[in-house]
Amino acid sequence: LKEIKVGLLGLGTVGGGVAKIMHDHAQKMSDTEGISYKVAKIFVRDIEKSRAKHPGLPEEITLTTDFNDVINDPEIDIVVEVMGGTSFAADCIEAALRAGKHIVTANKDLIAIERGQKLIQYAAANQLDFLYEAAVAGGIPILNSLRTSLASDKLSSVSGIVNGTTNYILTKMYEQERNFDEVLAEAQALGLAEADPSGDVDGFDAARKMVILTKMAFGVSVDLDKIPVKGIRHVKSRDIQVADQLGYVIKLIGTASFKDGTVYASVAPTLVPKTHPLSTVRNEMNAVFTSGAATGEMMFYGPGAGELPTGAMVVSDIMAIGQHIETQTTGHAFANYSQEATWREAEN
Ligand code: NAP
Ligand code: HSE
Repeated sequence: LKEIKVGLLGLGTVGGGVAKIMHDHAQKMSDTEGISYKVAKIFVRDIEKSRAKHPGLPEEITLTTDFNDVINDPEIDIVVEVMGGTSFAADCIEAALRAGKHIVTANKDLIAIERGQKLIQYAAANQLDFLYEAAVAGGIPILNSLRTSLASDKLSSVSGIVNGTTNYILTKMYEQERNFDEVLAEAQALGLAEADPSGDVDGFDAARKMVILTKMAFGVSVDLDKIPVKGIRHVKSRDIQVADQLGYVIKLIGTASFKDGTVYASVAPTLVPKTHPLSTVRNEMNAVFTSGAATGEMMFYGPGAGELPTGAMVVSDIMAIGQHIETQTTGHAFANYSQEATWREAEN
């Protein structure tokens, strides 16, 4: 049985989920592919920190505070970046690519900016895989669906609820009439929110995901800074009550449509009629709607954040790369497809 060795950069919510799934599902993974996978080394910031939350970690695993231990280990085939942030994460990924490693990441902050796209291009040019399914809508395999199953269609829009933290907060404010700060603290404790939750509540996390979805659905690169973004910080309980009385639910909606060579994109709290399926998406669940010339309307629904759903998407990327390594097919990077377009603010 071929063994693929994986190095993790980060052992927080997502890294812990990856380690747990690779441990608990090891038999299933090797039965599926005839390949066995092993987490060989993990880079963390604080080696003294209790890892009691990650009981599945094999005893022989090496934790290190020197990322070179992971990146330059000749036995490691795939480097998984699950730290977050842009500069340092990008430096680590770049070093790993230069060392010939395949990359998996969940880092939408990086993929949504030019540096991330450059790293993807570098990987593609060097026959290295670079996958990031978990970067959008956590546990929903939306990027893979756009890249493979919907590749033949001409999509005209992709939209929906793409941030779990804000959907969790809005749900609890609506159903339990609880206050914003209390529910945000709960979302943080559940591992849903980013290290800096302002990215969630102010809508930028959703905007980054819309940049990635736009690239994947339409092949168009949209500048993150040009997307009009409103978060939920100023949504009051009273707003939610009035919306309810009028037959609506307030949801943070990201939208991107593509018409006559122009992309229209935005993120904003939106009144969703109670008759619309998006109104029923509760807590940390996400839902992405696509509209295509051939396939019509589709809705992809599932957990938008959290340890195991997100970890599962990362591990599936690892397995996809494992197959490439095993069959010695050339590298694959998401989002090579590109077309020219202009950009406009979303129409209401
Ligand atoms: P997290 O719980 O804060 O964990 C971050 C991990 O990275 C920790 O293990 C930390 O080490 C390590 N780390 C961070 N900065 C480091 C540095 N400079 N040097 C060394 N180690 C460093 O974060 P997370 O929630 O797992 O998120 C990780 C990534 O996944 C982010 O890009 C996030 O946007 C993305 N993501 C998260 C979710 C989710 O549901 N949480 C879903 C989809 C995507 P220590 O343990 O020593 O502190
Ligand atoms: N903080 C993000 C969210 C994690 O709440 O959706 C998943 O990307």
